[in-house]
Amino acid sequence: MTTDPISIAAAMDAERDPGSDTPSAADGERRTLPPVLSKAPPVAMVIFGASGDLTARKILPALARLADRGVLDDGFTVIGVARTEWSDDEFRAHVTESTPDGGPKWRALTGRFKYVTGEYDHPDTFDQLRSHLDEADRIDGTDGNRLYYLATIPSVFGLVAQALAKHGCTGPGAGGNFARVVVEKPFGRDLDSALALNDEMHRAFDESQIYRIDHYMGKETVQNVLALRFANAIFEPIWNRRYVEQVQVTVAESLGVEHRGGFYETAGALRDIVQNHVMQVLALTLMESPTSTEADRVRDEKVKLLQAIDIPTPDEAVDKSVRGQYLAGTVDGVDVPGYRAEDDVAPDSQTETYLALRLRVENWRWAGVPIYVRTGKRLPARVTEVALTFRQVPFLLFDHRSSRDLRPNTLILRIQPDEGISLEFGAKVPGEKFHIRSVAMDFSYDEAFAGADAADGYERLIHDAMVGDATLFIRSDEVEQAWRIVDPYLTAWSEPGGGLHFYPAGTWGPHMADLLVERSGDEWRNPVVDLELSGGRQTHLEQ
Ligand code: BG6
Repeated sequence: MTTDPISIAAAMDAERDPGSDTPSAADGERRTLPPVLSKAPPVAMVIFGASGDLTARKILPALARLADRGVLDDGFTVIGVARTEWSDDEFRAHVTESTPDGGPKWRALTGRFKYVTGEYDHPDTFDQLRSHLDEADRIDGTDGNRLYYLATIPSVFGLVAQALAKHGCTGPGAGGNFARVVVEKPFGRDLDSALALNDEMHRAFDESQIYRIDHYMGKETVQNVLALRFANAIFEPIWNRRYVEQVQVTVAESLGVEHRGGFYETAGALRDIVQNHVMQVLALTLMESPTSTEADRVRDEKVKLLQAIDIPTPDEAVDKSVRGQYLAGTVDGVDVPGYRAEDDVAPDSQTETYLALRLRVENWRWAGVPIYVRTGKRLPARVTEVALTFRQVPFLLFDHRSSRDLRPNTLILRIQPDEGISLEFGAKVPGEKFHIRSVAMDFSYDEAFAGADAADGYERLIHDAMVGDATLFIRSDEVEQAWRIVDPYLTAWSEPGGGLHFYPAGTWGPHMADLLVERSGDEWRNPVVDLELSGGRQTHLEQ
């Protein structure tokens, strides 16, 4: 662990007075926090796609926070690589612009950052890169350690890996301990392309060097699923088909495709969210206990769970899924256009912006328990949650009238926003009559860990790649199995018409999605309304 705690005076100020950037007089006393991440080793980080959106929005800000936490070593530097013609100085200016909140520790490092303009398959690019890497080892003290980050368009991932191999860059430099590569999503666009990409990556790097990123795994609330399940005695005995009646995973967004219409047209909700984020969340929620927290032991269990998810025939895939696309509507009081009117979207686009699935997990723990999954853009709220609904009591003592407001016990893992866990259960309403209704017992991260200043997803994952902890990264067999599960849906939908249903923006998806669950006598939770009805704390869900 690092011994260099960071000052969070500014964060505390913001907490006290969210409307103001100006510290108040009472804030003179500076508080320090225990460091949340261990110190990283010296390393030269090479970002391919250095002039792109992801680098500016996620990677550089995460690095700036790591620097200001004191996590980055003095022997840390960045070498940006991209096709945009920039000098070192122009890249550094871009870095500064992308990290306006960067503190002195970050700024002390950025002056040494280098940039290579070049094509991703051209020898000159990699010759220059090599000489920068050697120089960084000599001058900046990066000690021969390398972390490559592929933040380019996916079609060049394999190309870059091959070029690195060809130029002798896939091992550590002189005196170094490691060379690792972080690969962004999407990893493939179907099973065949994922297999081909794994093959290409493995010709350049050993699997132990490859860190496939899924930013959902960097979320504290996702990691907390492991703590909840395996650090507590009370949940595991009921975490199975005997007690759980159904599981619902919701990844709802109120935003549309924003400026990413071009990308989204090639993806859709299945590839964008379900194949990666949803499968990861499901795996952690439903897998067996790993034998240790070692990366491969956790990933072994995730793979086993994914292997137990049923792979439908294309006919079954049609029957068990509902695809939707948003029409114009109103979200949070604002009129928004339909998907087909978004920039870079075809006027007759068949891409799904909503998807509901009914999955089965065929193993002893979950056989017969429906697993419902839904995700969509332009839904009424931004909320990601996993809800486990428990079976009713075998015999209900109270008559229908007294218990009409009683709903099944439900455990809700709120991944975001308003991070926490709720347990809904029945309680007697005070009064003479025996009237029972559902109430909620709540755990809120913000309240329980106030001021904890947790690392965000990218920060955590980049740090883990630097220290060589692959637990939260996706192994090749995991990514392939996730594609095996979703591939039949892609095949089924590629038929003319593809069964697309429409929903007005600001609603919970197409009516057909309700029928998908009603067929089994179930219904979708309304993540916003249900919690409020249960008498729990008022939600602060962002719209
Ligand atoms: C990304 C998707 O992986 O996840 C986006 O490409 C989506 O379309 C985003 O908006 C959602 O992430 P989060 O962390 O906001 O739930």
